[in-house]
Amino acid sequence: MNHPDAVKWNGRYTQEGQKWLHSKANALLAAYLPQLPRQGMALDAAAGVGTNSMVLAAHGLHVVALDISEVALRLAQQQAAMRGVMVETAVYDLSRPWFPPHSFDVIVNFRFLERATFPAFQAALKPGGWLIFETFIRIPGQAAETYYLEPGELEQAFAAWEIVWSGTREVVRNKFVHKITAQLVARKPDSAAS
Ligand SMILES: C[S@@+](CC[C@H](N)C(=O)[O-])C[C@H]1O[C@@H](n2cnc3c(N)ncnc32)[C@H](O)[C@@H]1O
Repeated sequence: MNHPDAVKWNGRYTQEGQKWLHSKANALLAAYLPQLPRQGMALDAAAGVGTNSMVLAAHGLHVVALDISEVALRLAQQQAAMRGVMVETAVYDLSRPWFPPHSFDVIVNFRFLERATFPAFQAALKPGGWLIFETFIRIPGQAAETYYLEPGELEQAFAAWEIVWSGTREVVRNKFVHKITAQLVARKPDSAAS
């Protein structure tokens, strides 16, 4: 794919693939995993090397891992084969999302922001389905950036849903890199039409 994001991320995964393979599964997902269904369909949006996809697959879900980087998805497939789990992968541009309505029981989105996915996730989850979302937030005082959530933006986008958890988390990588993520765990109401 010639999409600029594909070029950028394929380059990163080609150079740093091993580092990504050693990254830990998302802690918010780990915390809510016992409450998630053990069968059905899960979508891992911008799955990267599939670390979180493996967790969902080992839990029993049929996982579709989407990412714009074919290099990342190849690593995800290798990892799945090594662990003996099944994950379906597809190269997919999430800036133009469309999913069949009411098709997923669980959707996870970690460390990735594409606002066009909000209505697409809303339509794609089954009533009662779970959305687990965590990505970086603009730190107050910083200029707005495309890839950073505004404070409160996630809660607002999913305000019509049952908010199971929302909060923020500090991510301190070293003394120079300090970021904040917004976390959301929400369920689509049983009565939702779309
Ligand atoms: C920071 S990584 C996060 C990967 C994974 N969710 C995780 O938490 O380990 C961001 C991911 O977004 C993917 N990405 C970037 N732009 C994309 C797009 N337009 N459509 C789909 N995936 C995209 C990248 O290839 C990369 O794998």
